[in-house]
Amino acid sequence: MLLSKKQDLNKKQDSEKGHTSTYSSRYFRESIPKYEMPENSMPANAAYQLIKDELNMDANPSLNLASFVTTWMEDEAEKLIHENLHKNFIDHDEYPQTEEIHNRCVNMLARLFNAPENCTSIGTATIGSSEAIMLGLLAHKWKWRQRREKENKPTDKPNIIFGAEVHVCWEKFARYFDVEMRMIPLKEGLYTITKESVEELIDENTIAVGAILGTTYSGQSDPIQEINDLLVNIKKNKGWDIPLHVDAASGGFVIPFTKPDFVWDFRLEQVKSINVSGHKYGLVYPGIGWILWRDESDFPKELVFNVNYLGGWMPTYTLNFSRGGAMVIAQYYNFLRLGRQGYTEIMENCMANAGYLSDLLEKSGKFTMISKAQMLPIVAVSLKNAEKFTVFDLSKKLRERGWVMSAYTMPKNADNVALMRVVVREHFSKDMAGILYQDIMNACDALSEQKAPSKPDANGEKHRPIC
Ligand SMILES: Cc1ncc(COP(=O)(O)O)c(C=O)c1O
Repeated sequence: MLLSKKQDLNKKQDSEKGHTSTYSSRYFRESIPKYEMPENSMPANAAYQLIKDELNMDANPSLNLASFVTTWMEDEAEKLIHENLHKNFIDHDEYPQTEEIHNRCVNMLARLFNAPENCTSIGTATIGSSEAIMLGLLAHKWKWRQRREKENKPTDKPNIIFGAEVHVCWEKFARYFDVEMRMIPLKEGLYTITKESVEELIDENTIAVGAILGTTYSGQSDPIQEINDLLVNIKKNKGWDIPLHVDAASGGFVIPFTKPDFVWDFRLEQVKSINVSGHKYGLVYPGIGWILWRDESDFPKELVFNVNYLGGWMPTYTLNFSRGGAMVIAQYYNFLRLGRQGYTEIMENCMANAGYLSDLLEKSGKFTMISKAQMLPIVAVSLKNAEKFTVFDLSKKLRERGWVMSAYTMPKNADNVALMRVVVREHFSKDMAGILYQDIMNACDALSEQKAPSKPDANGEKHRPIC
């Protein structure tokens, strides 16, 4: 039926008012501008649906076993997040209760990490562990310089010691903040640093030593207690008071619950700062980490800025100024809701399911076990026989079933070891582990038809694990 001019106009107006169905609008038959801001607006429902549909190309977060980062939270937590999405955390004067909740979280964490009663621990929320590590190490650089200046000694050659198994943010710190990086290389079969390797590199210009509770590569822990004892001895014998920073990005929310007697935290004299990722085993969505200092004297006052732009004087010592307050609130929700009991039960489930998967993979006879979920609920394996396919092929093949698995090489000196890693998070049940195992076996069978492994990436870049 031919529409009259008036009817035609009504239809157009209806469409502008959003009375037509989403997929009948012209935005679904015309290509949308991608790299230049469009001249004109479009209806909200069209913009929403276009973006939502395009994002279906992303992996399913629940099947993303490459990442430590949380992909599931309870409805009540999500409700709180939505209700607080519009709060800028830094506006303490406007949102004093959010600030109060933040302070409660810092206190709970300091106690979880066994801060001594005679210390005044301080800390702050960050965007993640990377920012937390930068802040922790910056404080140590400043304290080192202050000590040297007091002694009338040169301050132009600070260095920092850590292992090659660190997350890239440690290297970033050294480069961005101009500190000599003394990186301890790994060896095949030994994927952590040793006390002896630290001792060889240490001197009066060492601003800090870094140790990891649960490395990104293998989930193992550096010998934190032994390194602490070394630093205590050095302080006694040489007078160098060198702090130990523990990167507990993943381990900080696992070990206190699964191995409370394992001593790695502020119970150790030289552990002066600790970072942890709220968005990993803290079980909060991305965008939250924490840095804690054993005592306020470990943090130089010069790094605190007092600003009054937002009404009222407010101290700030983060790298970024504005940030969302919602994830701080979500962290507090988990602390209240789960308590130590809830975190313990979840972490024990994760460890049990990771152990189950690890046993299955070991029994298959196809893999050398690099990590069998001893410290963190992660399973890392390399292939016993990589003549026909590699872990990179295997990880690609598993993507056909929707699984996302990290495949990567170990750092320098151990970089001929290529491995695949499964990070078990709370939503990954025993039955899911069984399905994954079967899919891995099927993928291995299919790939064994190949004549040779696929060629490595054209740019020859080394693969790093995803966080
Ligand atoms: C040991 C370790 N440190 C630091 C980081 C960086 O953490 P974020 O991604 O929270 O910045 C990661 C990330 O996985 C990690 O595993």
